[in-house]
Amino acid sequence: MNVLVIGKGGREHALVWKLKQSPRAGKIFCAPGNAGTAGEGATNVAIDHTETDKLNRFCAREMIGLVVIGPEDPLAAGLADYLRDKGFKVFGPSKEAARIEGSKVFAKELMRHADVPTADFQVFDHPGPARTYVETRDYPVVVKADGLAAGKGVVVCKDNTEALQAVRRIMTEEEFGRTAGRKIVIEKKLDGEELSVLALVSGRTILPLPACQDHKAVGDGDKGPNTGGMGAYCPAPAATPKLMAEFERDVFVPVVHAMKRARYPFQGVLYAGMMLTNQGSRVLEFNARFGDPETQPVLMRLKTDLLDLLEAVADERLHEFENKVEWDPRPAVCVVLCSGGYPGKYDNGKEITGVGAADALPDVKVFHAGTRLDDKGRVVTDGGRVLGVTALGADLAAAKARAYEAVKLISFAGMHYRTDIADKALKARPVAAPVEPPKLPAKFRRPGGDKPAAN
Ligand code: AMP
Ligand code: GLY
Repeated sequence: MNVLVIGKGGREHALVWKLKQSPRAGKIFCAPGNAGTAGEGATNVAIDHTETDKLNRFCAREMIGLVVIGPEDPLAAGLADYLRDKGFKVFGPSKEAARIEGSKVFAKELMRHADVPTADFQVFDHPGPARTYVETRDYPVVVKADGLAAGKGVVVCKDNTEALQAVRRIMTEEEFGRTAGRKIVIEKKLDGEELSVLALVSGRTILPLPACQDHKAVGDGDKGPNTGGMGAYCPAPAATPKLMAEFERDVFVPVVHAMKRARYPFQGVLYAGMMLTNQGSRVLEFNARFGDPETQPVLMRLKTDLLDLLEAVADERLHEFENKVEWDPRPAVCVVLCSGGYPGKYDNGKEITGVGAADALPDVKVFHAGTRLDDKGRVVTDGGRVLGVTALGADLAAAKARAYEAVKLISFAGMHYRTDIADKALKARPVAAPVEPPKLPAKFRRPGGDKPAAN
């Protein structure tokens, strides 16, 4: 079967790499792809996702059996519906269902309707009432632009002054675009550890993938501005089996059922960004796609044929895989290498060296994100997040050590990365939960694994 993957990030390289391993895979194409997808033996196709007519003709000419849509923008624009209408099999939600990511207002109202635990919130379409709301809160808030804003439309505010500023930036100055900022959500700021919980969803079937932890802030110790994600590991020990069962029961089931009842069923990967607060778990946001960089460590561990799995989602046969998906028991750690200046301004075109040597280490895979081949055939930087160096290890510490061993072999001008990916889990308290352990003498403490009572 010929497959077309849409996108050009680390996530798409990982998808291409894994799909390529399927004995059923024919030609794999990636539009537009990066130097890594090309190096994988896929053919990069210079068609933008907005050029729908070209994509349609391409799929027909190359007899594409499955289209896998990676990023949120084409989903929000309705590419899955368009290609399905043309008769192609597509992995990814419809435009209506993708609103769960594309509109924060939609997601919050859906959660309220389905009784899914999330931060208290209110929606505003005028700055005046939004300002009054902020001024009358006695807790810190988060201000979110309704629409997609390349991951930047969320302002976590430390006080009212910052929140008022955020309202102005989003609604009055339209910093994240006119449409994205037309409405805002103001919600209570929560504290706790974050988890990325992804599930394949098709029809009534929900198939959770092992949970990951992303590292959003640019600097070690979660310092500095947020990025698209500086690294991830999988599985995250904080996601105990008990918590995973809770997420399925309290988040995925009600949301998937509510969407189905409302006649915009979800098909694809549903990503719940969870925060483990000491009042219990809350959904921060949903994404309608695979996470980046979460996909890199997840797919490093997947043993089941990805093409079979994604096709089953598109065919609504996912139930055939219930309790049958196989994972490498070893954890995986992905460290993202970034361009100098990212998440602010950065230059492209820096030559990258050492990827081959890093890739040659056992249990290491270097996924490309912002890279391209220049006219001399050299791999150069072409984006903020450049590479995702991913490694398996006997345990998390070994996976981390191996990933950083590989990182040390790679260089490009301005390269920076976090040195503490997976440390939260490695330094975790014996109790795998986000809250401070109850202040009891050591002899009364629980040996671990279980979630302590809310305090
Ligand atoms: P998003 O851009 O929607 O992925 O949200 C980005 C990040 O903002 C999340 O990963 C959290 O770190 C943070 N965030 C979102 N909502 C809240 C909240 N209610 N309280 C604290 N942090 C939040
Ligand atoms: N890693 C965060 C995201 O994919 O949105």
